[in-house]
Formats: sequence, structure tokens, C-alpha cells
Amino acid sequence: MKRIIVTCLLLWPLLATAELGGPSLESPGNDVYDTESLRRGAKLYVDRCLGCHSLKHMRYRRLQKDLGFSEAEIKQLFPTLERVVGSMTTAMDSKDAERWFGVAAPDLSERARALGTDWLYTYLRTFYVDDERPFGVNNWVFKDVAMPHVFWDLQGEQRAVIKKIDEMPVIVRLEQAKPGKLSAKEFDLAVTDLVNFLDYVAEPAQLERRSLGKWVLLFLLIFGFVSYKLKKEYWKDIH
Ligand code: HEC
Repeated sequence: MKRIIVTCLLLWPLLATAELGGPSLESPGNDVYDTESLRRGAKLYVDRCLGCHSLKHMRYRRLQKDLGFSEAEIKQLFPTLERVVGSMTTAMDSKDAERWFGVAAPDLSERARALGTDWLYTYLRTFYVDDERPFGVNNWVFKDVAMPHVFWDLQGEQRAVIKKIDEMPVIVRLEQAKPGKLSAKEFDLAVTDLVNFLDYVAEPAQLERRSLGKWVLLFLLIFGFVSYKLKKEYWKDIH
């Protein structure tokens, strides 16, 4: 009996969130080895996120090297940077941020690992109009979030379709209220690039492992060939 009660208590938060009707998370299907996608994601991040969210663990030089940005491209990406040194901090003072948003915008270096790419992908696509919130938007995944909808021009506006279930208003889906500059499909792809970039930032060494993997395979192939030849050579005398 005790066990049943404990199980119920442990499951309660899960049941409670299910009841509030958060969306099921969707997968971005991103690929951290797709350098073009990472480059697009990096640009989008600098344009739309870096003003508020730093990436303290990401160094400019590393970004340049891993994503193959030329010196001119990196200067274009960060025009105010005098020398390409240090890590991606934000221009915004965290005190200002707290004054404006009530909370500081967290550093996103490692959040992709903690939150997961599905969560990020769904979160960034589920802002909807809510006149009761300070920025006029709410989010389906992160209720009452203190972040504005930074993609409103690209995505357009979404409205929540609400149904009453047991007297409780529950969001059943979001629908497009005003179109944005991008079609839904193009917007999803842009968010995939961005999430891909955050996935890479959370663990830049992922890329090295892959390129190391190639050398290991090549080594094994050559080594295999040489041993095969050697074996033939030895057996020739024995037969
Ligand atoms: C105008 C400032 C601002 C901009 C620009 C901005 N954010 Fe935020 N963001 C915030 C604030 C403030 C929070 C904290 C919200 C809260 O806790 O309620 C937040 C929260 C988040 C969270 C949740 C983090 C967590 O640890 O729970 C993620 C993920 C996020 N932002 C991603 C992004 C991405 C990606 C972009 C660029 C597309 C972006 N944000 C642009 C202010 C901003």
C-alpha cells in the first residue's frame, strides 16, 4: 500500500503537467555534421539570441575553425568585436535583463543538453498571442515565460485553440493567425538550424570525434590490407 501511495505521489507532477495540456515534443531531426546548417544556425543565433543569451563556453576562434568561417565572415558576424578572442558573451548586463524581464536570460552554452533538442525545437515554435502577458505572448511548452517572441516577423502570429476539459481550459493546438515572412516549412527549417547550432555548442567535441573516426577507419583499412598481404606472403612459404 505504502508503495502504491509513493508511486502515485511520484507520478503526480507528470499527471499534473499532462492535464495542463503541454504539447507533445517534436523532433528537429538535426545533424551536427551538416556544417552549412550550423553556419546558418550560428548567424540566426547572433542576430536573434546573443543580445540576451550568452554562450560563455563557446570561443570565437573555435567557432571560426569548426564552422569554417573566414576572417572576413567572422568580422561580419561580430562587427563590434575588435579581436577574435574570448568567448561569446552578451552585450546585455544581467542587471538590466532582470529589470526588463524580471529574470536574467540564462546562458545557453549547455542548455541544449539539459533541455534536449526536442524541447528546444518545440519551445521556439510554440509562442502564441496572450494579451495578459507583458510581451503579449505566452508559450505552450514554457508557460508564462518571460521571453518575448523573437521570431514574430518570420513566423507570424499564432493563436491558441482552447477547449474546456472538466471545466479546465486546455490548449488543444495552435493555429496561424497572421502569416510571417517565412512559410511554416521554411520557419521549421530555420529553427532546426538554430537548434542544431545549440546542439553543437553544448558539445563541440562531437565534431572532432567524427573526423577522428574517419582517420581510424582509414587506418583500419590500410592496416587490414597490409596484414592480408603479409599473411599471403607467409603462407606462400608454408604451402
Ligand atoms: C529580449 C531578450 C531575449 C532574447 C532576444 C531571447 N531570449 Fe530566450 N529568454 C529570455 C529570458 C528573459 C528568458 C527567461 C525566461 C523565464 O525564465 O521565464 C529566456 C529563456 C529562454 C530559454 C529557456 C531556458 C531555460 O533554461 O529554461 C531558452 C531555451 C531560450 N530563451 C532560447 C532563446 C533563443 C534560442 C533565442 C534566439 C532565437 C532567444 N532565447 C532570444 C530572453 C531572451
